[in-house]
Amino acid sequence: MRETILVTGGAGFIGSNFILQRMEQDSCAVVNLDKLTYAGNLRNLETAANSSRYEFVHGDIGDVRLVRQLLRKHRPGAIVHFAAESHVDRSIRGPADFIATNINGTSALLEQARSYWSDLNESEQAQFRFLHVSTDEVYGSLGPDDPPFTERTPYAPNSPYAASKAASDHLVRAYHHTYGLPTLTTNCSNNYGRFQFPEKLIPLMILNAKAGKPLPVYGDGKNVRDWLYVEDHCVAIATVLRKGRPGETYNIGGWNQKPNLEIVELISNLVDEMVPGRGGSRRELITFVKDRPGHDRRYAMDTRKIERELGWRPKETFESGIRKTVRWYLEHEDWVRAVTSGSYRQWIETHYSV
Ligand code: NAD
Ligand code: DAU
Repeated sequence: MRETILVTGGAGFIGSNFILQRMEQDSCAVVNLDKLTYAGNLRNLETAANSSRYEFVHGDIGDVRLVRQLLRKHRPGAIVHFAAESHVDRSIRGPADFIATNINGTSALLEQARSYWSDLNESEQAQFRFLHVSTDEVYGSLGPDDPPFTERTPYAPNSPYAASKAASDHLVRAYHHTYGLPTLTTNCSNNYGRFQFPEKLIPLMILNAKAGKPLPVYGDGKNVRDWLYVEDHCVAIATVLRKGRPGETYNIGGWNQKPNLEIVELISNLVDEMVPGRGGSRRELITFVKDRPGHDRRYAMDTRKIERELGWRPKETFESGIRKTVRWYLEHEDWVRAVTSGSYRQWIETHYSV
């Protein structure tokens, strides 16, 4: 029997990359439950839309009746849970949606998963997995000489976003410990690649550099993030789903720490190279702006557990991944035009005007 995966948040950046990759590389069927917030975009999934192995359902993970009905109808062997409010800056301006989706939504989804799983037969129960996609931000901030986060680093979330993800991680842990639900949690560092909503650092800088607009760098630009190509993240999730031990958490990252300013300079150079003729480097557009409140200084992931136990390692180098990514945004003007209207423009105007 072909396995069905219920993916939540599959119209977002990582979820849509995951669905396309899995449908290409596996024979699984996918049911994609997504609320289509500002971050959800069905254009990302155009190539899967007509497949008999794919179904899109417009809805909220917190809609108990809908989720119950989907689970009973499709009888998935796994739930891969991406759905979340994911932007730190938005969580600082208004945490309520983050509490509603990341905490209450995950809680409702877990409860429906538990109820569905309890009614499966013994062998189906043993095979079922609930994979929760989380973030390195739950661990807080590192000093310059601190070792990278491991799976045993104590949680110390600093933004409303990180706190809401930490709460959801704890709920997932509790559902395994208390009820035996076969859960897996992945904590990943910053992703980059196609389909990322362009209010996050990398796509924002590519599009602003192309348009000759200011490149707004928060604070001194020395905050460090550990960047991973999104397709490597998707392979890691598939690997954990297949081989991970229920109840365990796995750190995922790129062993690729870079200060923000270096990323922005690199993007400026690549846009200069790919769209020549501006007369002067795009680096001149770099503008230091007011820092993000509570801005975590440094993230870095120790990924030796997933490497040792499951044999996953990132394949893409940062040099080739960032080049592909810049080219993708430059070549997909239709996609960019479609997502940079209405609410996007409003966010950019409000956020960068203060
Ligand atoms: P995203 O913001 O691009 O996409 C989120 C998706 O979830 C959107 O399609 C949105 O419509 C959907 N959604 C939001 N609320 C929903 C709800 N209540 N019910 C159903 N769908 C809902 O996010 P992303 O960057 O793709 O991140 C996906 C997951 O990975 C998140 O859980 C995030 O915390 C985690 N993560 C992201 C990164 C990163 O660098 N982007 C790194 C580590 C972990
Ligand atoms: O670490 C994983 C996290 O990475 C995920 O859990 C989040 O969902 C994802 O959004 C991302 O969070 P960040 O806050 O790190 O991503 P963002 O792209 O918003 O910012 C990356 C860095 O760049 C951060 O230090 C803030 C800085 N920045 C961001 C923007 C949007 C700027 O300097 N200028 C900007 O305009």
